[in-house]
Amino acid sequence: MKDLLRTQDLSRDDVELLLDTAAQFAENPLRSRTALSNKSVAIYMTKPSTRTRLSSETAVAHLGGTPIFIRGDELQLGRGETIADTARIISGYCSALIIRTFAQSDVNELGANATIPVINALTDDDHPTQLLADWLTIRENFGKDITGRKFVYLGDGNNMSHAWLIMGAIMGAHVVAATPTGKWAPNPEVVATAQKIAAQSGGKIEVTDDPEAASKDASVLYTDVWMSMGDSENDRAEKVLALSPFAVTENLIALSNDDSIFMHCLPAHRGEEVAASVIDGPRSVIWREAYHRRTTIQSLLFHLINGDLKGAKH
Ligand code: CP
Ligand code: NVA
Repeated sequence: MKDLLRTQDLSRDDVELLLDTAAQFAENPLRSRTALSNKSVAIYMTKPSTRTRLSSETAVAHLGGTPIFIRGDELQLGRGETIADTARIISGYCSALIIRTFAQSDVNELGANATIPVINALTDDDHPTQLLADWLTIRENFGKDITGRKFVYLGDGNNMSHAWLIMGAIMGAHVVAATPTGKWAPNPEVVATAQKIAAQSGGKIEVTDDPEAASKDASVLYTDVWMSMGDSENDRAEKVLALSPFAVTENLIALSNDDSIFMHCLPAHRGEEVAASVIDGPRSVIWREAYHRRTTIQSLLFHLINGDLKGAKH
């Protein structure tokens, strides 16, 4: 496996290896401090980022390499140089490319033309590195045996909902996406892929528009912002109205398991997708989850550049 372009590129074994190593990086961030000595990693982002940018830069630094951050408007790409030419050029200087942008097809094209690993750091369709941090946090809370547990995403059927369904399927989990029907439901092709993966892994995929039924006896309640980067402001009023029943409130928490946790990829908008009392309350694991963005990206860079990941064809 050269690239991580989509969450579904990972096999269960790959995820297990990445989480095990990330747990070691959490204990000792400098345990592989020379892995990227004399190497550079390009981080190119055409959308804003706090966590992914900082965790990528610090992950590269902890591995002994040099991160090179490039804003969207800084490459000749914006002036008509092709994605393929850009991929070849960056491959000549750097050992990996981490990219955050809008179109998944641009990331795929970079991967196809770069000779170095390309890592998807969020597109309109997917957010694979986030899910590694999420699953390490889930494992820290519940251990490896997730039998009988239900993992619920509530809100917009966006990139995060896709990644949530696919990674849950890979891990053999019972995952649920509770979203409005229609415009803000997850992409049916992604749901079908998740169901196909779950059929092999022993997982279970459910999509529902009933937030109460979804939250009942859940082990995890997860949400994301209602307005994603690139979403049209013209949709805001209609979207907020459609999504308001899916806000993670104390009422939904009360329906969940006694040992349930609240998760959020962040950034958060208290009073919109989540009540302040929930995200700042005792069940919230958001700070540990955000911390693991660094440990898991460090692990991903380490293993991808080493050629340790087998990948999966889904
Ligand atoms: N969760 C996440 O990707 O955060 P950033 O947008 O700040 O990178
Ligand atoms: N769905 C959000 C995730 C942010 C990490 C977005 O794409 O903006």
